[in-house]
Amino acid sequence: MTELIDLAVTDHLLSTTRAVRKRLDLERPVEREVLLDCLRLATQAPTGSNSQGWRWVVVFDADKRARLGELYRAGGEAYLRAAGATASPNAQQARVQESARYLMDVIDRVPVLVIPCIEGRITDLRHAAAFFGSIHPAVWSFQLALRSRGLGSVWTTFHLAYEREAAELLGIPDSVTQAAMLPVAYTIGTDFRPAKRRPVEEITYWNTWGDTLGPGE
Ligand SMILES: Cc1cc2nc3c(=O)[nH]c(=O)nc-3n(C[C@H](O)[C@H](O)[C@H](O)COP(=O)(O)O)c2cc1C
Repeated sequence: MTELIDLAVTDHLLSTTRAVRKRLDLERPVEREVLLDCLRLATQAPTGSNSQGWRWVVVFDADKRARLGELYRAGGEAYLRAAGATASPNAQQARVQESARYLMDVIDRVPVLVIPCIEGRITDLRHAAAFFGSIHPAVWSFQLALRSRGLGSVWTTFHLAYEREAAELLGIPDSVTQAAMLPVAYTIGTDFRPAKRRPVEEITYWNTWGDTLGPGE
């Protein structure tokens, strides 16, 4: 039997899974079970050599979230300072920065912080693609699974400036790499829309770099 996947539902999920910051519901608790369901789906993602080195640190503990919040804010301040020093943002970048600042203010009130980790450390940058390629697909699957259940998240990396401090706090061994930190909560409303992106026809090249036209049909 051919198994058909509902395209309308799939495309809606893929095109409306947004970086959610201001619409994270800071009051509604998140159940452990829903996170496990989403993580179970996430571990269907591919990994290099099927290594499956992912580990997920789920932080509900308020004191630990507060400390992670401090690390996040410190990393975020440095990032935004550097971004401000190099260029004046366009309107869209300014909106993202304002939203990022909001998240910095409330991050320790987000009910759950999920830190996706991967076993190993990068010793050779030639391996970076395979290394992070073995955790990033699972992280995105996790975010899609959250969205389909009425929860939201945003991929963040600010706290990684203090990865060691976070590892100490959470007991993460030196041999493991933190890939991101996802604040997770139910969303306030579920009506997210596709974002404006550069037309795919402009960024897709046919046979030769830069050839956006190709040989024709
Ligand atoms: C690798 C990566 C790192 C990111 N780091 C942060 C971060 O530290 N803080 C934050 O607020 N957003 C962070 N983001 C979220 C981006 O700002 C967001 O994905 C982008 O603006 C697109 O949002 P949209 O899909 O809702 O349009 C990160 C995203 C990625 C992919």
